[in-house]
Amino acid sequence: MVYRAFFTSAFKSMDPEKAHELALKAIARGRFASRLIGHGTSNPRTVMGIEFPNPFGLAAGFDKNAKAVPGLLALGFGHVEIGTVTAQPQPGNPKPRLFRLLDDKAVINRMGFNNEGATVVSARLAALRKTRVGRNAVIGVNIGKTKVVPPEGALDDYVAGATLLSPHASYLVVNVSSPNTPGLRSLQAVEELRPLLVAVRGATAEGVPLLVKIAPDLADEDIDDIADLALELGLDGIIATNTTIERPASLKTSRDVIEAAGAGGLSGPILGARSYEVLTRLKARVGDRLAIVSVGGVTTPEDSQARLDAGADLVQGYTAFIYEGPFWPARINRALAKSGR
Ligand code: FNR
Repeated sequence: MVYRAFFTSAFKSMDPEKAHELALKAIARGRFASRLIGHGTSNPRTVMGIEFPNPFGLAAGFDKNAKAVPGLLALGFGHVEIGTVTAQPQPGNPKPRLFRLLDDKAVINRMGFNNEGATVVSARLAALRKTRVGRNAVIGVNIGKTKVVPPEGALDDYVAGATLLSPHASYLVVNVSSPNTPGLRSLQAVEELRPLLVAVRGATAEGVPLLVKIAPDLADEDIDDIADLALELGLDGIIATNTTIERPASLKTSRDVIEAAGAGGLSGPILGARSYEVLTRLKARVGDRLAIVSVGGVTTPEDSQARLDAGADLVQGYTAFIYEGPFWPARINRALAKSGR
């Protein structure tokens, strides 16, 4: 409630990327966490051989450079997926590149994988793993393609990222679904994806589970094909979904505002129905043979419960964290534990 009041008055009028940077810094310094000590909810489960303290985690893109992992865990997230990290450092797209659609509690972003690169992030993770909190933390590492690398170099680029980062990862994610790196999503086609996943698997540290993150905009048959490929290659899981390039007619935000934001991936509640659909399609296809991480539009405890009930092994969120504030993950996890999920 306090956060909502703060959001309405101050945050809303602030440039969204500036607000993000401030929030990340505050979390990294543990500003909110002290309020939560002792409020952590234990609701453990083992997925992909990893013990997760609870089923709800922070999706990729919030902490791209692994700068705030302990603070984020202290807020109640059971795991943090850092990244997307690319092999080479890169600035991302020109600003502005992050836009709020307030009436929809949604976001459009075309950040374009701004990050410090695999060498720097790998060193940061290595240092983190030497700390008490870092050693036990569940940290997913999400890797993507460096923008300046041409398509024919994509495979080697992902392999470089996997080689540097996977030794410090609880699990590794091949991101082929962000709309903001030209050509990236075409890597989801099975004939492109197969050699990519085989190569990344070859470069992934022994025993580190490997997942692929997919877009909500894939045709249903493509989802089936990727599920079959993941099974065939012995992958550990699928993360569904990334942001959408659609701009559904049901958005409440005015067309002018949406058009002014321009290109990018849309996230938030508007994505929920399609993300749920992809989850149920994947579940029907793979059963319990792969872990499914459901993400996209999860806002309330009921949303999270519905994903787990539909067969998700883990649930993640990002956009609702912006709108609901720092106590949101703890709220979700308390409700999940209470309902026995
Ligand atoms: C993202 N997301 C994202 N995903 C990813 O795999 N790598 C990334 O770098 C990013 N970056 C990113 C930045 C911003 C500003 C947003 C809002 C989102 C996608 C995110 O992880 C998630 O899949 C979607 O946002 C859908 O979930 P929510 O936000 O509706 O809960």
